[in-house]
Amino acid sequence: TAAPLVDSFGRRHRDLRISLTDRCSLRCTYCMPAEGMPWLPSGTLLTLAETTRIAAVAVQHGIEEIRLTGGEPLLRPDVVQVVEALAGLPGSPEVSMTTNGLRLGGLAQGLKDAGLARLNVSLDTLSRERYQQLTRRDRLGQVLAGLVAADAAGFEGTKINTVLLRGVNEDEAPALLRFALERGYELRFIEQMPLDAGHTWTMEGMVRADEVQALLSEHFDLVPVPGRGSAPAERWSVDGTQSAVGIIASVTRPFCGACDRIRLTADGQLRSCLFAQEETDLRTLLRSGGTDEQISAALGLTVAQKAAGHAVGQAGFEQPGRGMSAIGG
Ligand code: GTP
Ligand code: 5AD
Ligand code: SF4
Repeated sequence: TAAPLVDSFGRRHRDLRISLTDRCSLRCTYCMPAEGMPWLPSGTLLTLAETTRIAAVAVQHGIEEIRLTGGEPLLRPDVVQVVEALAGLPGSPEVSMTTNGLRLGGLAQGLKDAGLARLNVSLDTLSRERYQQLTRRDRLGQVLAGLVAADAAGFEGTKINTVLLRGVNEDEAPALLRFALERGYELRFIEQMPLDAGHTWTMEGMVRADEVQALLSEHFDLVPVPGRGSAPAERWSVDGTQSAVGIIASVTRPFCGACDRIRLTADGQLRSCLFAQEETDLRTLLRSGGTDEQISAALGLTVAQKAAGHAVGQAGFEQPGRGMSAIGG
């Protein structure tokens, strides 16, 4: 095996997030405009073989977990083969996925059989009208059916990701938690980050972690769960049970100090962080006959250049050149 990916602050990188496409079947208002984005030309997307090759080198460098994201990863026609190829790599990395859930009805069993370990499903509301308002698509029923299909396929440890928006769905936090507890999913509330294509984010508009905590504490008894490690979520056990709720406070309580993640965009650009301005062009390297040693070197360099952190939303903060749907969630 090759050298571990340790940055200049001593952080060792074990987690690779791979975006499989920048396209999405939803148009969440906090993510992209109604007309969608100027999508990446399909020829610039890494192929299954290219993605697998980069991941194989990364695993040799100590990457243990691979998370597939998008846009919406299930829009990739070859997504089951991608999972199978990555889960089958020497070293057997854990392969998981973050999805909007719309296509799980048809794909959950195939993904499970291909070796997908876990699913995180995005769900911001349980109201059909609000779902349509928030995502600009009338698909709540499809997500709920997707979750049922995931359960039936044998997925365990499924998580729900929720972004609360002031005046839109913040009042639903307790109901969403009750829903998750009943179904055995772990719910995480995510602070909205300044990563939207329209640059509409404001600090005042964001529902803060401390607000979410206060809101939930009116209805539930929350006790902090110790031992967070490198996870982005702070967790609390709920009402004395084994079930937990999480908050991902990227803005008000950043967790960069324990970060162990690097990212690969759908068009083959390596990034050290969601908020990095720099990208390393692995696609061109691969397509011009680059060697595994050169991929190794690019991984090492990207990690070596990683910044200590980013004062997200504070004075001087600059949004990266592309939005979350193009970087990967
Ligand atoms: P597990 O804990 O392994 O289930 O996954 P995860 O929480 O890392 O994955 P998921 O894709 O569900 O991430 C949830 C959210 O955490 C993302 O949508 C982001 O909002 C946030 N997040 C993930 N990685 C980063 C990161 O590197 N930086 C910041 N600021 N936020 C991140
Ligand atoms: N800030 C925080 N979370 C976001 N997501 C999308 N855009 C943002 C943003 N600007 C969430 C989605 C999904 C996950 C992949 O990221 O709602 O749950
Ligand atoms: Fe699609 Fe995720 Fe963006 Fe919503 S937040 S439009 S599900 S990429």
